Amino acid sequence: MKHLLKMNELTIEEIEQILSEAEQFSKGVQWILPEQTFVANLFFEPSTRTKFSFEVAEKKLHLEVLNFEAETSSVQKGESLYDTIRTLESIGTKAVIIRHPEDNYFETLREKVGIPILNAGDGCGNHPTQCLLDLLTIKQEFARFEGLKVAIIGDIRHSRVARSNAEALTRLGAEVVFSGPTEWHDQSIPYGTYVHIDEAIQTADVVMLLRIQHERHGGATGKNAKDYHEQFGLTVEREKRMKSSSIIMHPAPFNRDVEIASELVECERSRIFKQMENGVYIRMAVLKRALQSVQGGALVCQ
Ligand code: CP
Repeated sequence: MKHLLKMNELTIEEIEQILSEAEQFSKGVQWILPEQTFVANLFFEPSTRTKFSFEVAEKKLHLEVLNFEAETSSVQKGESLYDTIRTLESIGTKAVIIRHPEDNYFETLREKVGIPILNAGDGCGNHPTQCLLDLLTIKQEFARFEGLKVAIIGDIRHSRVARSNAEALTRLGAEVVFSGPTEWHDQSIPYGTYVHIDEAIQTADVVMLLRIQHERHGGATGKNAKDYHEQFGLTVEREKRMKSSSIIMHPAPFNRDVEIASELVECERSRIFKQMENGVYIRMAVLKRALQSVQGGALVCQ
């Protein structure tokens, strides 16, 4: 069974395989299972991109989509996540996609459930499908990872995107640098070095901005948006000092004029909406990988 929980559980070959499958899906290749197949999306935290791009991916693969609503489910009566998954499994669901506020929520489930879990984000921990779509976007741009410099800028400590990307990019041969307010540096991430934003943006091939994760700050961020933008954000003036070939990325949602100037969101260098587009193809590829591990072959047609 092929769970997708953390990037460091994928080999380089598996990452390359997923990126290659996603490229195939982007070119219109189809993969259709011969029998009716149910998958369930369980989002215990808000989401727009991940939730709906998984749903689009599922529909493109002709899967039957069960959208679980925590507010109207028996979770409200105290049912555990394990019992919820076992229930979905027993009624015929073949894979579950889960976003959950708890870091590593899957550790107590991974050996006990009989269907693949695709992690759609766990607290501050991991966001493997975001990382894979980011890798696809970078690969499309530069055709390599080796030797690239990727600057990840913002609220590093609370970012599952920073954690997943730093691990995978380092393993793929890129150099990762971090930048952002000192109190959000995270020395527990064993990759990357911290530099001032002005150094980061002038030397990076990829400038990856992160949202301030207000919901993980316990109610107090102590930051004024204008001050933050000037000190730590990608301003219009800083963009002018980026390398001519470098690109801007952001997992989104973005806060305009906080971590990124509003006019840069759709500028020529920005790949932010391309990342979202790539998310559909990556999610098709990881669904295929997971379902093949439990169902075997499928009808493939061009
Ligand atoms: N990038 C991302 O995970 O966005 P959502 O929270 O909208 O899914």
